[in-house]
Formats: sequence, structure tokens, C-alpha cells
Amino acid sequence: MTKKILYRGAEAEIRLSEYMGKTVVLKQRVKKAYRIKEIDRHLIAYRTKEEAKLIAEARSYGVSVPLLYDVDLTKGAITMEYLAGSRVKDILNGLEESERKRICFKIGESIARLHNHDIIHGDITTSNMIFLHDRIHLIDFGLGCKNSELEAKGVDLHVLMEAFESTHSKYAHCFDYVIEGYSKKFQGDSSAVVKKIEEIVRRGRYR
Ligand SMILES: Nc1ncnc2c1ncn2[C@@H]1O[C@H](COP(=O)(O)OP(=O)(O)O)[C@@H](O)[C@H]1O
Ligand SMILES: [Mg+2]
Repeated sequence: MTKKILYRGAEAEIRLSEYMGKTVVLKQRVKKAYRIKEIDRHLIAYRTKEEAKLIAEARSYGVSVPLLYDVDLTKGAITMEYLAGSRVKDILNGLEESERKRICFKIGESIARLHNHDIIHGDITTSNMIFLHDRIHLIDFGLGCKNSELEAKGVDLHVLMEAFESTHSKYAHCFDYVIEGYSKKFQGDSSAVVKKIEEIVRRGRYR
């Protein structure tokens, strides 16, 4: 069937497709001409596998993520549920403050659910969140990994803090609501994570 390209990133192409009668998203990693063929194949297979594993693991811990329908390591393709919602990036600035606060709190809760199991998303921006059925769905685990270090959790949240400062600069204070939600759900010492974020901010300043 003809597949409409939704998005063309540096690593992957996102197409709308059909699978068993359903509209689905096909995320296909693209070959890089500058990489040695053998290494390229290996990298594509590895990243595809890691992303699928993290999505499945996140779901098992109650985080809203797309359903996985198929994974093809040779093609570097993941077939997943199409989340017909809104990208948080596109809606956050236009919301009422109380609603924005509620959404940000939910974002924090979702990140904590990942971090409770040492899942590091790797690219937590509001482009990688889809709001649907009153839930925050996390997508794009392509840069994710498992890591139990405090540093990894701090960096993960710091990426989102920077996204708030750039994309949602009028509402940068809303990152505090993210931290509120995070602190409520995180089973470790959330104040240590907050301190780590502050340390990362300081490090950035003196670089
Ligand atoms: N399952 C999905 N449902 C709906 N839209 C999606 C889905 N997966 C990706 N997208 C859209 O495609 C864009 C790029 O996908 P993403 O997985 O983030 O790729 P990249 O790794 O290139 O950033 C997302 O920002 C989102 O708008
Ligand atoms: Mg993305």
C-alpha cells in the first residue's frame, strides 16, 4: 500500500501504513552512506532492537507507549500503533495554566515510572510525547538505554528542562510541575535527582 511519510528525521522515516486493517506507524531506520555497510547494518539492527525492547519494557511498567505490532531487525523497522493525538509540543503553550500544570504533572509521573526501573528515555522532549485519551504517551526510545546511575536520570530530566526553556520559554516554570509529578511517583530519592539536575545546570554554565 502507499505509505505517506509523516516525518523524515536524521535516523528514521515515519510513515503511516496499514497492518491487519489498522492504521499504524512504520518507523524505518535509514541507511547512512557514510557508514561502512557492515557496521551500518549492525547499528540499525541494534538500535531497532533496543528501541523495541525499551518500548515493551516501559509498557510493562504502566507507562503509556504505542503498542508494538511488528519488529523487523533486517529492515530496521518497527510497526506500532498510530497515536492519533496531539504532540505535547504543539498544544502545551495554548492550554489554560491549570490544565498545563496537570499535563506537566503527568509528564513527571511517566518519567518517574521509567526511572523507577532504570529506563532512560534519552530524548525527553515535548516532541516525543503524544497526548491522547487524557494520557501522556511517550514515543521515540531510539536514544534510550538502561542505566541505574543518578547521573543518567539527571541528564534525562535536564534535556526536558532545556526543552521547556526553549520551546515553552514563557512556561519554563512548568518544569517545576514536572518535578512535582516525578517526586510523587519516583521510588528513589527525588531530591538527589533534583540536586543532580542543578549540578548539570552549573556544569553547563562554567563550561
Ligand atoms: N506511534 C506514533 N503515533 C503518532 N505519531 C508518531 C508515532 N511515532 C512517531 N510519530 C510522529 O513522528 C515524529 C518522529 O518520530 P520519532 O519516533 O520521534 O522519530 P525520530 O527518532 O526521528 O525523532 C514524532 O515527533 C511524532 O510526531
Ligand atoms: Mg523524536
